[in-house]
Formats: sequence, structure tokens, C-alpha cells
Amino acid sequence: MTVPTLLTTVIAAIKSSKKYRDTNEGTVRALAEEALRQHKKVKPAVKAVRARLHSIMAPYLGDPDYDAAAAQLTAAYASQDLAHIRQTCWEIMAQHLSTRERLPLLADFYTQIFAHTGPPTTILDIACGLNPLALPWMNLPHLSAFYAYDIHEPRIQFLNHFLQLNGLRPQAILQDVALTFPQEEGDVALFLKEMPRFERNYHGLGRPLLEALPVRHIVLSFPEVSTHGGRNLVNRYRTFCHQLIAGHDWPLTELLFDGELVFIIKKR
Ligand SMILES: C[S@@+](CC[C@H](N)C(=O)[O-])C[C@H]1O[C@@H](n2cnc3c(N)ncnc32)[C@H](O)[C@@H]1O
Repeated sequence: MTVPTLLTTVIAAIKSSKKYRDTNEGTVRALAEEALRQHKKVKPAVKAVRARLHSIMAPYLGDPDYDAAAAQLTAAYASQDLAHIRQTCWEIMAQHLSTRERLPLLADFYTQIFAHTGPPTTILDIACGLNPLALPWMNLPHLSAFYAYDIHEPRIQFLNHFLQLNGLRPQAILQDVALTFPQEEGDVALFLKEMPRFERNYHGLGRPLLEALPVRHIVLSFPEVSTHGGRNLVNRYRTFCHQLIAGHDWPLTELLFDGELVFIIKKR
């Protein structure tokens, strides 16, 4: 087989699998190219791409049924009842581990963060998962743009439906931020509970990503304890965060919530 044929075959094998058919094709292509450089043959390359995707996509964190969830949101927003809207967003966020763990914090998570950054009018939510659904707790009447980046196609489509229900432009973007850093300017970029995995998946890319973001503040968060075993990770991630921005004159504020360690980095 020629190299282009090998590549097409590996991509087709991944995109036809139930687990990864919804993954951004650019992500699959980049991983397939890398795997073929290393393995040369289809079978081991497919195996290597699946192993990388397991860590990158983290399907084990959970997903809602996106069509059903979109219909629930449509009904909730039609009611114009904030309690109903919040309840619906809450139930959908409960279906993904990262947002589920943040639910008990929502009442003052963003209030505290935005007290430091000022209320943003433009937000970038990087590797967003379902976190944009926290918007009804953000209390931002003057928000004009919410950019959300992820590599899961149905999630992005669903989030665009949600943003439109909120009167915002559909600016959830199917973009692999390891291949193309976000270019959109904003007041606050959220990069929640993903940096350790990002550094593991794309060694050394965390710092250039932070440097490239054209925003005033970056909100970087980490789990307080490990998913397995409940080990306290605060000291380790505090050191890690300081290393990531070492040499930059970027003031840092630390907020410790019950379960999530948050750093607010002031870039400019
Ligand atoms: C652990 S979840 C975090 C979700 C969210 N930040 C939160 O804390 O609620 C990680 C998310 O990052 C996305 N992701 C992983 N690698 C990515 C990449 N290179 N570009 C864009 N999104 C990515 C995954 O698809 C997944 O939705």
C-alpha cells in the first residue's frame, strides 16, 4: 500500500468505529500520520491511534444523548423560567464527570472568578466538554461572545443550539486546539481540568498554548484530588502551574474550591 492509501485506511478504520466516529477528522488524521510514521502498518497504527484517542477524548467521562438533551433545552428555554432552565442544564451537565463534579460549586464558582477578572464580555472555553451549560450561573448580562472549542462533533452541534437559545452566535467550534491554538480575542479563557491530560497527550504544548491565547485572563483549573484513590493533588498542581508560567510576569491568583483548584492568570 502507498502511504496515502495507508493513511486513508487508518482514518477510515477509526471513523467507522462506534467509539470514535464522532471525533474531529483533523484530530484523527494527525494521529494517524504520527502512528504510521512510527508503525508503518495499518493494524498497529490503528491500535496506536485508538490508544491516543482514549486519553484525548476520554469517552469514559460520559456523554448525554445529544438529540434528547437539545430537545430538553428547547423546552426549558421556551418556558422562560430560569429555575427550569437551570434544572435542565444541571441534569445535562451531570452526565459528564468534569461538569458533574463542579455542580455543587456552581452557586459561587463563576461569581468568585469574575470578581477577580471583572465580568467578561467575551469568553473562550477551551476543551470545553459540557461546561458552557454553566452559563445560567455566570450572571453575565453583557456577554456578547462565547467561543467553545472541542473535538467531539455532536457536542459542538449541541452547544451551538444551546448558545443560540441564549441569544448568542453559534460559536462553538470543532477545533483541535493542539493543532491550531484558538485565535479569537477575549477577556477570559477557561481551560478547566484539562491541562494535566493535555500535557500528557501533547508533551510540552501547555505553555505555548497559554502564551498564544489572545486574552486578558486565563482561568486554569485542576482537580483537587485524583479520580482514582482520592490522593490530594493541590501541591503537585500548584507547582505545575507555577512551572507552566515561569519567566512570565503574569500575576497569579489561587482559589481553592471544594474539589477544584483554580488559578487566574493575568496576562495583560
Ligand atoms: C476532561 S474534559 C473537560 C471538560 C471541561 N473543560 C470541564 O472542565 O468541564 C476534556 C474535554 O477536552 C476535549 N479535548 C481534549 N483534547 C482536545 C483538543 N486537543 N482540542 C480540543 N478539545 C479537546 C475533550 O473532547 C473533552 O470534551
